[in-house]
Amino acid sequence: MYTTRLGLADNARKTSIALLQAVLIDTLELRLTVKQAHWTVRGPRFQQLHELFDSFVAPLDQEIDEIAERIATLGGIPDGRSGSIAASTHLQAYELDTRAGHAHLIALADRFATLGDTVRSSIDAADQAGDADTADLLTATSRFLDKSVWFLEAHLSVEGDELE
Ligand SMILES: [Fe+2]
Repeated sequence: MYTTRLGLADNARKTSIALLQAVLIDTLELRLTVKQAHWTVRGPRFQQLHELFDSFVAPLDQEIDEIAERIATLGGIPDGRSGSIAASTHLQAYELDTRAGHAHLIALADRFATLGDTVRSSIDAADQAGDADTADLLTATSRFLDKSVWFLEAHLSVEGDELE
């Protein structure tokens, strides 16, 4: 870690950098994945889903930049290299032959929700470490991921489906 004038304990910075780095890797993987879905979806809802999947790219890029720059702010070195993503992402590898819109929607909803769980636990961990700003940043990320799950699940809903 670099030294900094920030009034945060070294331990808090170290904890937050590790939490943010793990989220950065999975968010980069998810960003690659939504483009993969954008390119490979086929079927009667092609145009709608092709556009839906692409609509996640810009907000994911925004989150990625915020996360990476928070790591740098805290004195860390953000690692967004392709080899690091491949070596350490927690998200399941995307199947190259995924075609149908339904299959893409499920695969993406699973991944957004998985990352959402990671981010939710990271918010609590950053808070406990005493870094409210990182917790706040991740809270915004979490809100975006949750909303994206809603968008994807709404497309999976069928007319007349029951409320739990
Ligand atoms: Fe495109």
